[in-house]
Amino acid sequence: MQLESLIKRLADGAWHRVENADDCGTELAGVGLELEIQSDRCRLPYPIDVLSATAIASALPAEVQLDVAAVVDSTNTRLLRRPPPPAGTTRALLAEFQYGGRGRCGRAWVSPYGSGICLSLAQLLEPAPREPGRLSLVIGVAALRALRQLGLDGAGLKWPNDLVYAGAKLGGVLLEAAPAGAALHVVAGIGINLRLPEEAARRIAADGGIAATDLNAIDPGYCMRRNELAAALINHAVAALAEYRRAGFALFREEWNDADVLKGCEVKVSGAETVAGVAGGIDAAGALMVRAGNTTHHVVSGDVRVRSV
Ligand code: BTN
Repeated sequence: MQLESLIKRLADGAWHRVENADDCGTELAGVGLELEIQSDRCRLPYPIDVLSATAIASALPAEVQLDVAAVVDSTNTRLLRRPPPPAGTTRALLAEFQYGGRGRCGRAWVSPYGSGICLSLAQLLEPAPREPGRLSLVIGVAALRALRQLGLDGAGLKWPNDLVYAGAKLGGVLLEAAPAGAALHVVAGIGINLRLPEEAARRIAADGGIAATDLNAIDPGYCMRRNELAAALINHAVAALAEYRRAGFALFREEWNDADVLKGCEVKVSGAETVAGVAGGIDAAGALMVRAGNTTHHVVSGDVRVRSV
């Protein structure tokens, strides 16, 4: 049976009779899912809220063109390979599974089939924004707004692009861009952990960065609201990009700083140069301000570690 149809059939988490249960187990292991097998019957260890293009599209404005894929290398890579959508429109791509999911700093983004949100949005920004680095922070704020819409308060932002909850990473943003004449083809990728199997959490921890968490650990009810979350993320990202183009970064800076989990923490930023000091929020350009003695460093890129809180 085709992978997508097999998972749709097993998505309710109940026992099902299948032909060649062992082969099905091998196939699902390839996309990060475990199958419980009892002779010719099998089940997923938990139900999956399979993505529904119809349900999500019904919550989106007409200028968003949505595609939902079962398996891709990376939703960001897919959209970057295509020509940009016409200015004023958005192309959104969601995938159940990415076999080459990408995070910041060359890291992999691990998300077993149906266990998270793997979303990318492409837009043609005309004229090209002067400070494209701020776009990733704008998308971080948009993702936080989407989580709040679903009732999740208490999530925060860790510079430059992590969504965190209780000190652990719930998701992240990967913003990529390619020049297109006087315009900029922007692809914003958002990954959110919904239900990370232990094996995936171990792989993420082994890859460095902060420990991972998922929405399931916060409230298992979120796992069956995947389509709602996907639609909320798309709507808030599209609205935030329009708001940024119209009104600028000032309000996003304020909202970002309100959600900043690093503020007042002793941090060490490794990037082009290493900077250690006390984090003091982002400046008008979106750079992280780090105070060391009488100097405030404005860090534009790097990986941040908290030294003490
Ligand atoms: C990070 O925290 O390092 C950024 C993670 C971004 C992951 C998303 S999932 C959808 C999109 N496609 C990718 O390959 N990466 C982004």
